[in-house]
Amino acid sequence: MKKQSRPSIFSSAQRDLWRAVDSSIWTFDADRLRRDPALPVLQTLLDQPRWLEAHHLYDETGSKLFETICELPEYYLTRTESAILAQKAEEIIRIAQVDCIVELGAGTSQKTLYLLKEQTRQRRGGTFAPIDVSLSSLKVARDAVKKQFPRLTFHGLHGKYQDGIAAIDKDLPTLFVFLGSTVGNFNHSELIGFFQHLSDSMGPRDFFLLGVDRVKKRELLEKAYNDAQGVTAKFILNVFANVNRLMGANFDSRKMRYHSWYNPEWQQIEMYAVSTAAQEIRFPSHAASFSWPKDDRILVEISRKFDPARLQQQLQWFGLKPVAHFTDPKEWFSLLLFHKSSSS
Ligand code: AVI
Repeated sequence: MKKQSRPSIFSSAQRDLWRAVDSSIWTFDADRLRRDPALPVLQTLLDQPRWLEAHHLYDETGSKLFETICELPEYYLTRTESAILAQKAEEIIRIAQVDCIVELGAGTSQKTLYLLKEQTRQRRGGTFAPIDVSLSSLKVARDAVKKQFPRLTFHGLHGKYQDGIAAIDKDLPTLFVFLGSTVGNFNHSELIGFFQHLSDSMGPRDFFLLGVDRVKKRELLEKAYNDAQGVTAKFILNVFANVNRLMGANFDSRKMRYHSWYNPEWQQIEMYAVSTAAQEIRFPSHAASFSWPKDDRILVEISRKFDPARLQQQLQWFGLKPVAHFTDPKEWFSLLLFHKSSSS
């Protein structure tokens, strides 16, 4: 790999925290700031009730399983959002007059290609900077974008959303894109922290495009998260292989089963691993352990469902002004466009 100079999308304060890992892909040097990545995992697993942060689901196997989920007949989210984007990308890019598109939790950036196509058509170029924790997904996105849109500059940011968002120069007119209803995987305090951090990091000419899954009939929701082929179950239980690798723990997926349900009070799908036998979970590197009784459960992921009008109202509190709302004919999914309000 040729030595690459750090691109101008980075703010001067953050530039030195990123180093090249591959052609056009930059990684966040987390070790320089965080000491022990296992500690937050131990904290949530020793919490009561026990839970895990959703980003641990996305190791290489998890990212592949999620791509399979997106194709499942029961999982309508990806298809529905893609159809809205295919129809509305022209209008979105016409409103959001920017030089740079930053995608959060991008995966392989399939759906974003509609926006990039319009960006190159209406503006003839610009920069695309997807942020993701999966290096292999970023490489797939890079190869596709470079092939299809040679006029666009590509900078993949390998790291967590917060780190990528904070790195972008506020003076660069940017459209931040957060698709797939991934924001639904944040718990209440993560959600507030996320919107606050995003808003603080946005400049006065920036826009934010948010894709959210809507509250709907319980049966449809529960099927989408408990598919007939059992891919979602595999995806959820795979998180423990990742935790074992990170912490040298002894989770055994043969002694657990998947359970999910829609919690109407909290308007969220809850996805659990349930212990099928009494077991002792050990973390030798941290001299810690806990007993996991039969039928006791660990909350691996939540997936919130939203009322778009209410969300538009709530985000104004963070200085994000709603400028457009796009949905599908069944009103299952919404794409909300916000502008950073100059008064905050
Ligand atoms: C990534 N995220 C929006 C998915 C969702 O629908 O909450 C993750 C997922 N988990 C199980 N199936 C899909």
